[in-house]
Order: sequence, then C-alpha cells, then structure tokens
Amino acid sequence: MSVETGLKGAIQVPVDLGERAYDVWVGPGVRHCLADVIPGDVGRVAVVTQAAVADAGITVDPGVEHRVFITDNGEQIKTLSAVEELCREFAQWGLTRRDAVVAVGGGAVTDLGGFAAAVYHRGIRVVFVSTTLLGQIDASVGGKTGVNLPEGKNLVGAFWQPSAVLCDTEALDTLPPEEMRSGLGEMAKYHFIADANLHSLSLPERIARCVQIKAEVVAADEREAGRRAVLNYGHTLAHALEAHGGYDLRHGEAVAVGLIYAAELAHRTGRIDAERVDEHRRVVDGYRLPTRLPEGVDSDAIVGLFSRDKKAVDGVTFMLDGPDGIQPVAGLEPALLRETLEAVR
Ligand code: GLY
Repeated sequence: MSVETGLKGAIQVPVDLGERAYDVWVGPGVRHCLADVIPGDVGRVAVVTQAAVADAGITVDPGVEHRVFITDNGEQIKTLSAVEELCREFAQWGLTRRDAVVAVGGGAVTDLGGFAAAVYHRGIRVVFVSTTLLGQIDASVGGKTGVNLPEGKNLVGAFWQPSAVLCDTEALDTLPPEEMRSGLGEMAKYHFIADANLHSLSLPERIARCVQIKAEVVAADEREAGRRAVLNYGHTLAHALEAHGGYDLRHGEAVAVGLIYAAELAHRTGRIDAERVDEHRRVVDGYRLPTRLPEGVDSDAIVGLFSRDKKAVDGVTFMLDGPDGIQPVAGLEPALLRETLEAVR
C-alpha cells in the first residue's frame, strides 16, 4: 500500500481534492493526536458527540478551548431540528466562523456534526474523529454530510469536506459485534471496487486501504456526477430492504446480500462468469455475513422499491460488475429482478 505513517505511527491517507485536500489518519489511539490536526488559527472547538461514545470512554482533547455537546444515541439524531439545536447552542456559546466543530462518533454523528458545520455561519471547519468501522471506511471520508427527513434518508445535506479525519481503531474494541458487522459489509464491497488483496492486511491497514480506495473515487468525482456511484455497489437491494423495514438486518448485512444479488444480476446479464459470482460469495462469507435474503421477503414490494431508490434517475439502475469493472446498468426488466431475487432466497 502506498501510504505513509506519521502522527504517532498512524497510517496517513491523503484525500486529493485540491484546495479542499485533507488527510485521513488511521491507527490505534490516533484520537489522542487531535490537537495536531486542528488548524492552527482555530480559537475554539465545539466537540459534538453521542452519549454512547462518551460512555465508552472515547473522549478527545482538541488542545484549545472547547465545549462538549452530547446528542442522543442512534441514527435518529440525524434531524433538521437537531441541526437547529446544535447551531443555536453554538451561537449561544459564541462560536465564530474562525472556530471549528469536531464530531466524535460513528456515521450519524459525523453526518450531523458535519452538516451543522457546513451551515453554521455558512460553513466553518470540521474535523471528524470516527469511532465505528462503518464510519471509518465510509461516512467520515468524502464530504457527504446531512440529515434524514420522514420522507427518506439523507434527503437534506451538503458536500462539506473535513479538514482532517482521525480513524481510531482502538475505539473499535468498544463496538458491539452487530455494529462491527455493519462495517464489514461495506468492507466486503471494497474487494470489488479495486484490487481485492485486502485479506493479507492487518485491520488498521485494511481500513486505510478501504479509505484509500474511497479517497481515489472521491478525488475523481467529488459531487457524484458519475464514478462516485461505484461506492453504492450492493446498495440498491440494501436500500430497498431497509426502506421496506421489518427485517432484522444491519446495514452491512443488507449490503452483503446486496453484493451477492448484484453479482447474480451481472451473471444473468452476461457481464460476469459463475467464478466471479462465487468470488462474491467467498468474500461475503469470509466476513461471516449473510449471502441470502432474510425469511419472508416480498419480491414485488422490493422490486417496486428499486425504482424509488434515490440514486435511480433513469428507471431501475444497478451498479453491476463487468469486464470493465463496476458500472451503472439501466433498464433491467422487473421479471429479471424478481427471478434473481429467487436466486438469493
Ligand atoms: N457512501 C457513499 C459515498 O460517500 O459516496
């Protein structure tokens, strides 16, 4: 891997975005280096974190005057009213446009804290301290921030790149196993987006490699005009299962089944051979993630939800593997989509 180490042995992964470029640092205990990555002219820092993160003993010291703002736990904190509440608290404290936000937690906290930073004073600097596997290899990198509406996830947000990201692998020791599984589903996805040689790496190296793959995609297409959609590989089925609800699946587990489904679809459309489908099964299985749909999935409802996927701008479009890698494939027939669901039942 062409990454360097620094910042007390952490692995450095640059995100090459010109004047918005920043580094992601991956390693055990790297959150203790927060003061080293806070921009030098920042006067005060609003630390936004979640009760569960603080309760797990994951705290930070930005090295300048700071105040900690603790949100509730879970994804339900991603609301516009939570953004308003945070921004009002920032204003009451007197946070200025020269100051910064540090969001400490998983994807929900970095999405919320990042979006609050993006809109407060029309945008102040933000640093992410990512504490979950899912957050480290996906949400904290690439500048997508935002909140949910009752009508859908992440419907209000902004592209707002952080000044730095610290992925503290020590924090992963505090994660419940189901939260770890959620990240592993995203990790499985990276095996197919770039070279698949993740198996030989240690966990911090593997996280850094996933970040590096994502960083390359984001640097090529920051605003998701094209290539960035590759990061949604396996997600169309996952989003449909999540939108339908009622299945006992974490996001990463839904993505895992979604990867197998996408491979089966690619095989049925002649884009990949049976060996490549098996490779998908081996990778997903290797992470002890599900390769089959949960009991009782309603095919008609799921196929109906495919066309409501927020990435679907031109009918039902899937990101599918093929001879030239993962690409968008539009116009897949509902009968094929239904028949392929049976293959993963
Ligand atoms: N999570 C997909 C992206 O960042 O584009």
